[in-house]
Amino acid sequence: MDVFRIEGPVQLKGQIRINGSKNAALPIMAATLLAAGPSTIQDVPDLSDISICKLLLKELGCHVETLSDGSIRIDATTIDNPVGEYDIVRKMRASICILGPLVARCGRAEVSMPGGCAIGDRPINIHLRGLMELGAKIHLENGNVVAEAPQGLKGAEIFLGGAYGSTVLGTANILMAATLAQGHTMIESAACEPEIADLANCLNAMGAKISGIGSPRLEVEGVKELQPVTYRIIPDRIEAGTFMVGAAITQGCLDLTNCLTKDLMAVVDTLRRIGVTVDTHQDGCTVAFSGRVKPADITTHPYPGFPTDLQAQFMALLALADGNSIIIEKVFPDRFMHVAEMNRMAANLRKEGPAVVVAGVDRLIAAPVMASDLRASAALVLAALAAEGTTTINRVYHIDRGYERIEERLNPVGAKIVRESV
Ligand code: EPU
Repeated sequence: MDVFRIEGPVQLKGQIRINGSKNAALPIMAATLLAAGPSTIQDVPDLSDISICKLLLKELGCHVETLSDGSIRIDATTIDNPVGEYDIVRKMRASICILGPLVARCGRAEVSMPGGCAIGDRPINIHLRGLMELGAKIHLENGNVVAEAPQGLKGAEIFLGGAYGSTVLGTANILMAATLAQGHTMIESAACEPEIADLANCLNAMGAKISGIGSPRLEVEGVKELQPVTYRIIPDRIEAGTFMVGAAITQGCLDLTNCLTKDLMAVVDTLRRIGVTVDTHQDGCTVAFSGRVKPADITTHPYPGFPTDLQAQFMALLALADGNSIIIEKVFPDRFMHVAEMNRMAANLRKEGPAVVVAGVDRLIAAPVMASDLRASAALVLAALAAEGTTTINRVYHIDRGYERIEERLNPVGAKIVRESV
């Protein structure tokens, strides 16, 4: 198992190109199941979650290969085993987004029911409700969700909102299924995340008829079949946001290229309000800061609100603010595994239900800490860059799920991160 030894404090300075988005790539890879023939997805990051997705598609019967430029070619001509096994699904919850395309294309799909994870319960009730409204019959068998629609799916008017707002992968599942359903589908309270817009654009490039892209109401005119596609995915806004915090927390200056700042308005606004300079340019932005950030109140919301996937990273930054901040989690109310770990680094954080009171301290101190989930782990890396001494982060495989060799990205701009196998 790998650990990181991170020496701090350092100052990050230089340029980083933002990689393609993990959370756009995963549903788009699933979308290739909708068309017989080879599709090519470009700018897919080299991450362990992507490797799991490739394995999943191979198990279904697809031919999957990585091309010399890193693109992934998925030939979904034959799907002879429309089953997502527990062994794969338990490693990656996003595997659930094969359910919609499989039942639409094959008339039957079986996918292991994902369990909870470090960030909460994570039910899939809304995914299943949406598929049932499209006419799929659904039952549970040996811990697997079985969805059947031998006569094909039928368009419907579907409300996809839940207790915490819209659902990102639920929208992806229903949208993909609706492309091949007979007739018209209207999805109300659809997720508006840029990754869903990217999926919809990819589906349209495959011949789907989706309108309302980027809005909470998606309209889909079902078509008989979709065509394979060559498609480049959008840059990863969460990776970009993480590196923005990296510049601020180390009082450095990073120029981020291939970065869509328009997808990060809530984040850029928060950074500017706490005193960080964010200058946008044609291909991204430059983020610079020196001194101590001002405190802030942050509440996470579905897009275009402040993203839950950057909550932990901003907690690391506000831990060093000149005053008290409050962070409220409205998407995953239990997503606070990083609080105890950051307190081990001399942060002063107090969890109160779905909120954390962050009393700013003037320094963080290195400590051995444990990575618990992807974004919490990224936050620990950021805290370690600013902390005094050498921080050891255990279980860095969590970070590798969503950040491509983060040490190789950050060391050239001033970080001192060593990966060790223990
Ligand atoms: N929810 C339900 N029922 C459902 C589905 C969701 O109650 O059927 C609830 C969830 O429990 C949660 C809220 O709705 O409280 C939102 O969950 P959502 O379904 O939107 O999350 P997701 O689609 O499973 C994706 C990202 C997450 C990101 C969330 C929220 C991917 C692969 N995952 O998950 O990304 O946090 O949207 O933006 O796209 C990450 O990258 O670290 C990550 C966890």
